[in-house]
Amino acid sequence: METIAAHGGRLVNRIADPKTKEGWLAKAQSLPIIQLNAREISDINMIAVGAFSPLEGFMGAQDYESVVERMRLANGLPWTIPITLAVTQDEAAALSAGDDVLLAACEGTPAAVLHLQEKFHFDKEKEADRVYRTTDLSHPGVKYLMDSGDILLGGKITLLDRLQSTDFIENQLDPAESRQLFHKLGWKRVVGFQTRNPVHRAHEYIQKCALEAVDGLFLHPLVGETKSDDIPADVRMRCYKVLLDNYYPKDRVVLAILPAAMRYAGPREAIFHAIIRKNYGCTHFIVGRDHAGVGKFYGSFDAHYIFDEFDPDELAITPLFFDYTFYCRQCGGMASYKTCPHDSANHVSLSGTKVREMLGAGEIPPVEFSRPEVARILIDAMKGKSG
Ligand code: ADX
Repeated sequence: METIAAHGGRLVNRIADPKTKEGWLAKAQSLPIIQLNAREISDINMIAVGAFSPLEGFMGAQDYESVVERMRLANGLPWTIPITLAVTQDEAAALSAGDDVLLAACEGTPAAVLHLQEKFHFDKEKEADRVYRTTDLSHPGVKYLMDSGDILLGGKITLLDRLQSTDFIENQLDPAESRQLFHKLGWKRVVGFQTRNPVHRAHEYIQKCALEAVDGLFLHPLVGETKSDDIPADVRMRCYKVLLDNYYPKDRVVLAILPAAMRYAGPREAIFHAIIRKNYGCTHFIVGRDHAGVGKFYGSFDAHYIFDEFDPDELAITPLFFDYTFYCRQCGGMASYKTCPHDSANHVSLSGTKVREMLGAGEIPPVEFSRPEVARILIDAMKGKSG
């Protein structure tokens, strides 16, 4: 059985084999060092395991400009989010193209080697405007960009250390592994689901609607860096586990973590998220309301419309779009604006702020909004219990 091709045709692997790693570690002391932050550490891992295929490292100027301007790599392949390594002018001044640079994680642990191909200036305002559609510093992606160094370093990387945490160890699957698993399960059509929030009934509804049309569901919560007021990944994973135990068919769902950092780039990130899931072996991808959005920066369905800017064959993963979904008392079940004819007074839908208030006060939100098992985990987490 054929699995879906990786983006660009080949699943990238930039993880050093033991001998290569030993060689680099032996000369680590003599290499210039750049200290990485949490997003960059996540990026080198995503690149190395092939989740960002066809990228083999941080973008050079040609790819960067092309991605910012036209949502494509320089060779024309769709790609919407710059994957870059920014450093200060001083850090850059000490480096030259052709250098091998040690990329260090916390406390100087060698994480990877960057084979520096080029260093270049970039226009932060332009990147913010094109990628995030705003230059407003209250947007977390824009804030990160504006706070970063002024020079970008481009070049392939070789990963020396996965730096994998033991958290969610049983849910860690690299793209090569998820592909193998789908193959073993005999799943030809697999739908991927991205999420950074605690699971609620609308999520469950769109996942199950999608599952009706395919062989398997790949629940793929993002557990890399999120903004400080998002619910921590360990709490979200506990919610998923209790939900799967009670409400999902075991043989049709795989739960795995996506160790990527959130950018909050809305529509552009929806394309990015779809491409990543293709690399993990998904054939379909769910895009609901305000996918990867933050605040009021994007229209509710901008993340749907952006797919029209690409030929379906070049993305080669099928988006499954969902309208705003909720429980409707008149329908007596979950529905959406696409399927429900009733007045919104019949709809049970709560704002994120309202839900947080209820949970904070130890109150279980209506069962039409959240499964009580999930709500209890969230209430405990808010009380500071480890559950
Ligand atoms: S996201 O940043 O990862 O997109 P979230 O975890 O809230 O945030 O959403 C996960 C997926 O579910 C996204 O595709 C989002 O569009 C979709 N979604 C969330 N809530 C709803 C809803 N009420 N109706 C339709 N789609 C939704």
